[in-house]
Amino acid sequence: MTRLAVIGAGSMGAQIAQQAALHGVDVTLQDQEPGQLQKAREANRGHLMRRVEKGKLAKEDAEAALERVHTITDMRAAVEHAEFVVEAVFEDLDVKRLVFRELDAASSEHAVLASNSSTIGISKLASATERPDRCVNMHFFYPVLVMDVVEIVRGPKTSDDTVERALELARQMGRTPVVLNKEIDGFIVNRILHAATQEAYRLLDAGVASFEDIDTAVEKGLNWPMGPFRLGDFSGLDVTYNARLHMYRSTGDERYRPSPQLEAKVKAGKLGRKSGEGWYRY
Ligand SMILES: NC(=O)c1ccc[n+]([C@@H]2O[C@H](COP(=O)([O-])OP(=O)(O)OC[C@H]3O[C@@H](n4cnc5c(N)ncnc54)[C@H](O)[C@@H]3O)[C@@H](O)[C@H]2O)c1
Repeated sequence: MTRLAVIGAGSMGAQIAQQAALHGVDVTLQDQEPGQLQKAREANRGHLMRRVEKGKLAKEDAEAALERVHTITDMRAAVEHAEFVVEAVFEDLDVKRLVFRELDAASSEHAVLASNSSTIGISKLASATERPDRCVNMHFFYPVLVMDVVEIVRGPKTSDDTVERALELARQMGRTPVVLNKEIDGFIVNRILHAATQEAYRLLDAGVASFEDIDTAVEKGLNWPMGPFRLGDFSGLDVTYNARLHMYRSTGDERYRPSPQLEAKVKAGKLGRKSGEGWYRY
C-alpha cells in the first residue's frame, strides 16, 4: 500500500485521508492549524460512526480506519516517508506554490506531489519544484467519502509513471479514476456541470421558468439527483459564483459570465444551505 501524506485538513483533505484509511492506506494528515486537525478527526469519527449505526461498517473496522489517519502540524515530518503527497490547502496560487516548494524540499525525490485543486492546473505548481514530471492534479469531489470519481489531469511535463501511480492510488482508495491528457480549465465534470448550469441560469434570467420548475424538469427529465439550483445551494452559491467568475475571467468567454441573479444572491449573503437560505430556505 502506498504511504500517503495529505496536506491541508479542511473539508477535502480530511475526507481524502479518511477515504484512503478506510481502504487500508496509512495516512499522515497535516495542517498548520491544530484546530483544523481536531475538527477533521471529530468530523471523520462522526461520518464513520453513522455508518456503524446503519450497519454498513463494523465498529472495529471504523476504529482501525480512524487510527490509520495520523495527524500532525509539522509538514516536514508529515512527508518525510511518504511515497505520495496530496495537497488540499486553500485555493490560492501563491499559497499552493509555496507549499509545493516546501514539499519538494522535504519529501523523498521519488515521491509524487499531487494537487486536489479544482481550478489550478498542475503546471503552475510543478514549476515551483525540481520534479515537474512527478507532479499531477488529482481532483476529488466533495464529499470525498461519498463521491466515487477522481479526475487525474496530466500537465505538459507529467510522466506516464506518475499518471500510473495516481491511477493506482485512486483505485487503492476504492475510487474510480478518469484521466485527462490535457490541462484544461474546469476539467471534465465541472465543465459539463457549468455548461448545463449556465443554461439553467439563462432560462431563469430570461423569465422562461421558475428556478423550482427548472430543477424539477432536470430532476425528472434527466434523472439528475438534484437540479442545478438545489445543487448550487448544496455546494454553496459563493463556490458556484466564484468558479464561474474564474472561468469567465480566464477565458473571456461570455458563456461563463455569472448570472445577475446568482450574483445578487451571493452579495446578499444567501449562500445556500450553509447560510440557511439560497434559492431555497433551510
Ligand atoms: N470544497 C470543495 O467542494 C472542493 C472540491 C474539489 C476540490 N477542492 C479543492 O480542494 C482544496 C481545499 O479545499 P477545501 O474546501 O478543503 O478548503 P478548506 O478551506 O476547507 O481547507 C483548507 C485547509 O488548508 C489548510 N492550510 C492552508 N494553508 C496551509 C499550509 N500552508 N499548510 C498546511 N495547511 C494549510 C487550512 O488550515 C485549511 O484547514 C482547494 O484546492 C479546492 O479547490 C475543493
